[in-house]
Amino acid sequence: MDSQNRNTDGYDVVVVGSGGAGLTAALALAERLKVLVLAKGSLTGGSTAWAQGGIAAVLDAGDTFENHIRDTMIAGAGLNRLETVEFVIERAPLAIERLVELGVPFNTEGPSLHLTREGGHSHRRIVHVNDATGWAVQSALLKAAEANPNITLLPGRSCIDLITGRHEARYSGSGRVWGVYALDEATGHVEAHVARATVLATGGAGRVYQFSTAPRGATGDGIAMAWRAGARVSNMEMMQFHPTCLYNLEVKNFLITEAVRGEGGRLKHPVTGHRFMPEYDDRLELAPRDIVARAIDDQIKRYGLDYVHLDISHKPPEFVKEHFPTIHEKLLGLGIDMTTEPIPVVPAQHYTCGGVLIDLNGKTDLPGLYAAGECTESGLHGANRLASNSLLECFVFGEAAAADILDHWDAFDEPPPVNPWDESRVTDSDEEVVIKQNWTEIRRFMWNYVGIVRTTKRLERAQHRIKMLNDEIEEYYRHFRVSTDLIELRNLLQSADLIVTSALQRHESRGLHYTLDYPALLPEAHDTVLVP
Ligand code: FAD
Ligand code: SIN
Repeated sequence: MDSQNRNTDGYDVVVVGSGGAGLTAALALAERLKVLVLAKGSLTGGSTAWAQGGIAAVLDAGDTFENHIRDTMIAGAGLNRLETVEFVIERAPLAIERLVELGVPFNTEGPSLHLTREGGHSHRRIVHVNDATGWAVQSALLKAAEANPNITLLPGRSCIDLITGRHEARYSGSGRVWGVYALDEATGHVEAHVARATVLATGGAGRVYQFSTAPRGATGDGIAMAWRAGARVSNMEMMQFHPTCLYNLEVKNFLITEAVRGEGGRLKHPVTGHRFMPEYDDRLELAPRDIVARAIDDQIKRYGLDYVHLDISHKPPEFVKEHFPTIHEKLLGLGIDMTTEPIPVVPAQHYTCGGVLIDLNGKTDLPGLYAAGECTESGLHGANRLASNSLLECFVFGEAAAADILDHWDAFDEPPPVNPWDESRVTDSDEEVVIKQNWTEIRRFMWNYVGIVRTTKRLERAQHRIKMLNDEIEEYYRHFRVSTDLIELRNLLQSADLIVTSALQRHESRGLHYTLDYPALLPEAHDTVLVP
């Protein structure tokens, strides 16, 4: 058996994920506890490093928490939980202060932080580091974690499943979580990382769609692991599509930040140059994302276009270069000068609003299991996330989960001996092509049948394919040694199933879930909560 029980490593808490949520939790926990952080691939492979626009926080004297709360609820189409919205938004200024202390070089304007504007925000309230905020935040958090003697960072670990009561050497009958089984990507060994508490911070499931702005590893692993272990998952039908992803045949997932529209960018028909947003919403290009994405989708379908144009070339070139240096540079490399010409854009999946159901302490349904960040459904985003509220959610819930673990540490039992990973009945795969084929198929039908505009018939078609693929993938999983690709494929399919099942249960059009069969809004907002 190629497995080891890492029980003896002596870590108090295992954190899965090294993005904004995972590292925030790890840094707070490390004040008193020994923390192990596991990450698939590299330590900077999550969405956090890719974030562009910034972080929303009320920092301007003319703005108020009430404004930010109202904007968040309007974008979320009333599905948000007010208690969570207040909890997060009131903690935003402190979260920004902590990041400043960690050395994040936010842009300034005189003595204050510079605030940019994004869709759905009634005020300027987005703090940022040019147009590459995520990289600056990820770097500062990682630097602090690397310097902390209580934190061990282990990249190259693909977690497969949570260790629960049923993996205990003497089954206690409980759903208590005791850490994770993880594949060491370099050696191919599966290790059991056992701890008193576990925090999932594994990011979203965007890669379930053919076109997505999310990184390769956004395959819904944490959501699928928690679901298989018995935790409830909610609002998975609420998949956010960003209106403006670069349309380019070589570079398929480069985001053009919403801040381009925030600073005056206009959406236009690519042939006639007609500015079309006035026909869709009074807030024009700064309407919430679902509205702008649907407007672009409508233009593309109505006129048979491949893309629309996003144009900020009417602004002075120096202004454009100063505000968007990363995008400007990247586009120049592709032969597009955004200071003089429009950018071809299309909508693409961008953010997973649903996820593992958590409370205000980051607690899931399962004892010993916490979760934070994009893999969760905390009640903040409702039916549509307001721009730049998600990094904020990572910091607030990373802290909240850590605080709850620290506050109740004495009540967390020592882990029991757990069974090592059982590989006695598997062999090396002889048909890797199955993984590639199924991966492509899932992403295609999810894009075509479960995208921006849905129908019951299309959702049922997707469900039918999921059922067929499930048999094939589970059989493959039972017979062959795990690889990162196989782990991800299994989780992608699980995520697709949760999205489609949730979408079929919602008989209305609300926020990101828009279906031609139920175009109206029901009088009351209800979460779609799936119970394993
Ligand atoms: P991530 O940062 O995605 O990190 C996930 C971590 O989990 C990674 O370390 C990964 O390796 C690890 N992991 C996943 N699965 C496994 C596994 N099986 N085993 C081990 N480790 C695993 N939000 C904003 O608020 N403002 C923005 O400006 C903004 N811009 C964005 C731009 C882009 C292009 C994208 C894609 C997203 C943007 N977002 C933005 C959203 C935001 O970046 C994410 O919601 C947020 O960073 C998620 O952080 P996280 O810590 O939850 O997960
Ligand atoms: C962007 O910069 O447009 C992304 C902001 C976000 O996703 O919150």
